[in-house]
Amino acid sequence: MQASGKKIAVLATGGTIAGRAASAHDNVGYSAAQMGVRELVATLPALAALPLVCEQVAQIDSKDMSFAVWRALALRCAHWLAQDDVGGLVITHGTDTLEETAYFLQGVLAPAKPVVLACAMRPATALLPDGPQNLLDAIAVAGTEGARGVVAVCAGSVHGAQDVAKQHTYRLDAFTSGDAGPIGYVEEGRLRLLREWPSADPAAARQKLTELAARERWPRVEIILNHAGAGAAIVQALVAQGVDGIVVAATGNGSVHHDLEQALQQARASGVRVLRSTRCPQGAVLGRQDDTLPHAGTLSPVKARIALMLELLDQRRSGT
Ligand code: SIN
Repeated sequence: MQASGKKIAVLATGGTIAGRAASAHDNVGYSAAQMGVRELVATLPALAALPLVCEQVAQIDSKDMSFAVWRALALRCAHWLAQDDVGGLVITHGTDTLEETAYFLQGVLAPAKPVVLACAMRPATALLPDGPQNLLDAIAVAGTEGARGVVAVCAGSVHGAQDVAKQHTYRLDAFTSGDAGPIGYVEEGRLRLLREWPSADPAAARQKLTELAARERWPRVEIILNHAGAGAAIVQALVAQGVDGIVVAATGNGSVHHDLEQALQQARASGVRVLRSTRCPQGAVLGRQDDTLPHAGTLSPVKARIALMLELLDQRRSGT
């Protein structure tokens, strides 16, 4: 892999990578989103010689991610991606909703350049923080010739937006790409690519982003869970509130309690879009002949929700 030599834009949103704790021995009792992007970059002397441009887009714990921050972030990404002298972007982000932001950005940017999310499981003040290495690795991927699409880098693995999921609450190697496996590994600052980058279609994505940016209200899609004793009440309450879509985190291969299934069928009949994903962390929902509700294939519940939001938006745009 060759380095592109172009500028890299580092967009910061907060997270543990920018977190501070009172003690260097505290890896969990810290406040996320405390250090600014320039301070973060300045902790790595190796970056001083690189052509970086830095921008603080937000400063939040990613559990508080909102549509407003997504909108601002996507627009700033689009701005930097349009610059000829910028080869790629790095976004510093909390780990808790990183997979959602990655999937969302891939959906509304589908970039022909790399957009690399960098994160950390330990705060910047830890005795042995993981953020600096993750940031260096992310910058190496963003500067790699031929790289494209939205990916996340953590603990030396590069995960594609479609597959990346947080799988552990505190280990440094907190992410998985499930059955698909990582796109590659960063080894001593160089990328070893294992499979294809996420697909690029920036022109089509730009229309979606323009539409999203202009909309005051984004489609409302909620996630509910199938479980022992699941019933109709939550679905009925959501329909009464005018929800646009419901994703059910179903059991196993997309199975749903019969009381809940009936309520979802009624919701669908009243015009609410319904998708079945699974609460299983691995695998995909495989369709059956007797399915009464559509399924989301390999998408986790949080990603199925974003996919449905973007689809609803497309429908509104085309008036179908
Ligand atoms: C966050 O998601 O912002 C906090 C947790 C983390 O980054 O690991």
